[in-house]
Amino acid sequence: MGVRRRTTRRTDGPRVKLRRRFREGPPFSLLEGIEKHGLYPQIRTVNAAAKPETTVDNKKVLSFCSNNYLGLAAHPKVIKAAAAAAKKYGTSCGGSRLISGNLELQEKLEQAIADFKGAEAACAFMTGFMANTGTIPALMTVVNMFGLPHINQDDNLIISDELNHASIVDACRLAKAPREIYKHRNTKDLERILKRHKQKRKLIVTDGVFSMDGDIAPLPQIVELAEQYKAMVMVDDAHATGLLGENGRGTIEHLNVEGKVDVVIGTFSKAFGGVGGFAAGSKELVRFLKIRARQYIFSSALPPATAAGLIEAIKIAKNQPGLRQKLWQNVKQFKDGLKALGFDILNSETQIIPVLIGKEQKAIEASEKLFENGIFVPCVRWPAVAEGQARLRCTVMATHTEKQINKALNIFEKVGRELKLI
Ligand SMILES: Cc1ncc(COP(=O)(O)O)c(C=O)c1O
Repeated sequence: MGVRRRTTRRTDGPRVKLRRRFREGPPFSLLEGIEKHGLYPQIRTVNAAAKPETTVDNKKVLSFCSNNYLGLAAHPKVIKAAAAAAKKYGTSCGGSRLISGNLELQEKLEQAIADFKGAEAACAFMTGFMANTGTIPALMTVVNMFGLPHINQDDNLIISDELNHASIVDACRLAKAPREIYKHRNTKDLERILKRHKQKRKLIVTDGVFSMDGDIAPLPQIVELAEQYKAMVMVDDAHATGLLGENGRGTIEHLNVEGKVDVVIGTFSKAFGGVGGFAAGSKELVRFLKIRARQYIFSSALPPATAAGLIEAIKIAKNQPGLRQKLWQNVKQFKDGLKALGFDILNSETQIIPVLIGKEQKAIEASEKLFENGIFVPCVRWPAVAEGQARLRCTVMATHTEKQINKALNIFEKVGRELKLI
C-alpha cells in the first residue's frame, strides 16, 4: 500500500479552499449570522492577575466577573507553593495517572479535597468540565463482562435540571443513557418523572449553585425524593465549594444534607484559584471512577505547580473562615446596592449576581459602557442562557474593598440611567 496522493488540482491555496468549504456548511453560516447581528463575543485580553484591580486590554479596571472568589489565585502562599513544586518536579507530570503521572502531589491533593469536603475519597480531573463528562457516563456504565448481571442502557435514566451547566448537558449526551429534564428547581416536576420511571436505575443530577443565575438547588427535597424513589444523587458544587456552609463544604453543608448525596463534583478553578476538577464520595465510588472515567484514564494529570498551589489554597480556605465572611459581606453590599438602584438580579442567592438586561444588543452595549467607565463585566448571552435573557454576570470576591464596590455601584447607576435600564 502506497501513500495516498492528493489528486485535486490546486487552483486556490489549500487554506482558501478549506475556508470556502467550511463557510458553505451549516456551522459557519451560524458564524456569519452571529457576526451579522453583532453578537460575536468580544474576548478581552487580560494583562494581570485575577484581582479586583486588574488590567484588561491594557486599561486599569475593577473586575466584577472573576470566579477567583476567595482571591486565592493571587495569594502569595499559593504562588510560593506552586513555584516550589515547579522547581522540584518540573512543569509536567509527563503522563496520565495510570501510566507515569501519579505524582505524590496528586494523591495529596485528592486527600486534601476529600478531607475538606468531608468525603471518604476524591478523584482529581484536569478540569471541572472533565469531572462531569467523566463521572456521569461512568455511573451509567453498561459493561456486560465478567459474568455480571446483564443491564441494558434503557434500564438507566438520568434526570437533570434544565439549567444545569453545559458540562452536565454534554456528560448526559456522552452517557448515551435515556434522560429526562425537569423544570428548573421544580421538585414537583422531578417527582412526576420519578413516578413514571420507578423500575429504572436513576441518577438525579443538579448544579448546587447555578452558574448563570446564582440560585441554589432545593437539595433537601431532592434527597428526600431520591430516597423515596431509590435514585442516586449527584451535585455539581463548582460555585459553592470553599464558599457555602460554615466550613465551606458547599451547598451540601449549607442545606444540611451531608451524607445524603452520592457524588459531589467540584472544580479547583473557582474558590481555590487554580484549575482542575474532582469527584468526591465513597472510597468505592472513587476506586470505580479510576478504572472507568475515561477523562481520568486517558488524559494527562494536573501539572505539579497546579497541584501544589491547590493543596495550599485548600489549607487557606479551611483555616481562614474570615475570607468567606468577607465574601458574604461584600455580596450583600453589592446586591443591596444593585437592588436599591432598581436592577433586576433575578433570584440570586450567592456571589453570582446576574443583572438581567434581556435583549442581547442592549446587554452588549451595557457591558461596553461599563468597561469604558472602568468596570469589567462581560455580557452573557445565548447559548450560555436562553435567547432574550442576556445579562451582565457579575461576581464578587472576598478581596473587593467596600470602596471598590461603592465605585462600581456608582458606575452601574450612571450606565443604567444612560441606557434607560433603571
Ligand atoms: C456548574 C459548573 N460545573 C462545571 C464547570 C466547569 O469547571 P471548569 O472550569 O473547572 O472546567 C463550571 C464552569 O464554569 C460550572 O459553572
